[in-house]
Amino acid sequence: MTSQNIQGGGRLQGRVRVPGDKSISHRALLFGAIAEGITTIDGLLPAEDPLSTAACLRALGVPVSAIEAGRPVTVEGVGLDGFREPLQVLDCGNSGTTMRLMLGLLAGRDGRHFVLDGDASLRRRPMGRVARPLAAMGAVIHGREQGDKAPLAVLGKPLKGAVIRTPVASAQVKSALLLAGLTADGPTTVIEPALSRDHSERMLRAFGADLESRPDAPEGPTVVLRPGRRLQGQTVVVPGDISSAAFWLVAAQLAPGSDLVVENVGLNPSRTGILDVLQAMGARVEVLAEREVAGEPVGDLRAWAGPLRAFSIGGDLIPRLVDEIPVLAVAALAAEGTSVIRDAAELRVKETDRLAVMARQLRRLGAAVEETDDGLVIPGQQTLRGATVASETDHRVAMSLAVAALVADGTTTVDGGEAAAVSYPTFWDDLARLGG
Ligand code: S3P
Repeated sequence: MTSQNIQGGGRLQGRVRVPGDKSISHRALLFGAIAEGITTIDGLLPAEDPLSTAACLRALGVPVSAIEAGRPVTVEGVGLDGFREPLQVLDCGNSGTTMRLMLGLLAGRDGRHFVLDGDASLRRRPMGRVARPLAAMGAVIHGREQGDKAPLAVLGKPLKGAVIRTPVASAQVKSALLLAGLTADGPTTVIEPALSRDHSERMLRAFGADLESRPDAPEGPTVVLRPGRRLQGQTVVVPGDISSAAFWLVAAQLAPGSDLVVENVGLNPSRTGILDVLQAMGARVEVLAEREVAGEPVGDLRAWAGPLRAFSIGGDLIPRLVDEIPVLAVAALAAEGTSVIRDAAELRVKETDRLAVMARQLRRLGAAVEETDDGLVIPGQQTLRGATVASETDHRVAMSLAVAALVADGTTTVDGGEAAAVSYPTFWDDLARLGG
């Protein structure tokens, strides 16, 4: 375990280019694998989670080139049904996206057997939310706790198209069902309670899938996928991850004298809830050069320090900022007034129970934080004292606590800082370089 020491009172200045979007990186690898021909990926996130996806694909017989920062990655597609039966367990590491999307891709590989496993955190996370609707399409998936937990065994079967209403707004569930639908015997329709990130829809369409999105359908955001089309390898350009940029956007508000430009950030509207909340808080964030790159909106973001107002969030906004809630909890500590987070019970089944972990760790810094069933209540204008805190193995907790440490008195030690490498391997270097 590595510990990071952070001195309170620093200010952040300069420019930072956050690494590639994690969600888009996984999808580029997976869709490239089932396409025909070569897929070239620029800006792929060279972090532990996408490395887990690449390792699984290699075990399934898909040639994926080495993943190194600054180098394009190539995937030699094997086609929709080209995976070979692997000799070994498919190790998804810490990555829920890898395991859930892989389940969708493997369920229809008739006659082949696959075993998926992950680290201690992933073994605790619910997989029934994917396995159950896949079973309704004809999949055979076994696992611990009535098929809900890894290790999971998949016996590939021919799949039927289905109409599925997902109980949670989850892009991982939606994407797994769409991937299974690619080789089903008829159309697959997924209806969500609220719109989750739509990277799969955009990218599947770019690869040639027959897919129709109806985000405003009266029964709920709906996607219809019709099987039958082959996918063609593409060039994918991965924008910077707004979920990684969020740490800098919040840090720049809180640390007096800060002024940062975060370059090349993906601004897909299904991900920009954090910008809406920061705006409502009176934060200073400016979009500098908005453009479109390979089907995704991108911009540079300037953020600088100043006072914040409290926020109250819930409902359909939550899926648009689900990964940014830990760092928003830190922003709330500095705001004027009491902030409220509701409808965020999903955070309890992320890499850790992020509501419990953030409340516990922020209290170590002297903060008052109330945990509710589905959120947090956080009074503002609190004074934080440097202390030893812990990531509890969660990458977004590690980085959120680093932001809190910038405004705590004295020195804060973040134990388990290496967790950041799951999504942002250069986070601690960037923090030091920017002045934190
Ligand atoms: C992701 C979707 C989100 C998010 C996760 C990545 C994806 O999970 O929290 O970090 O790439 O589809 P859910 O869709 O399950 O909420």
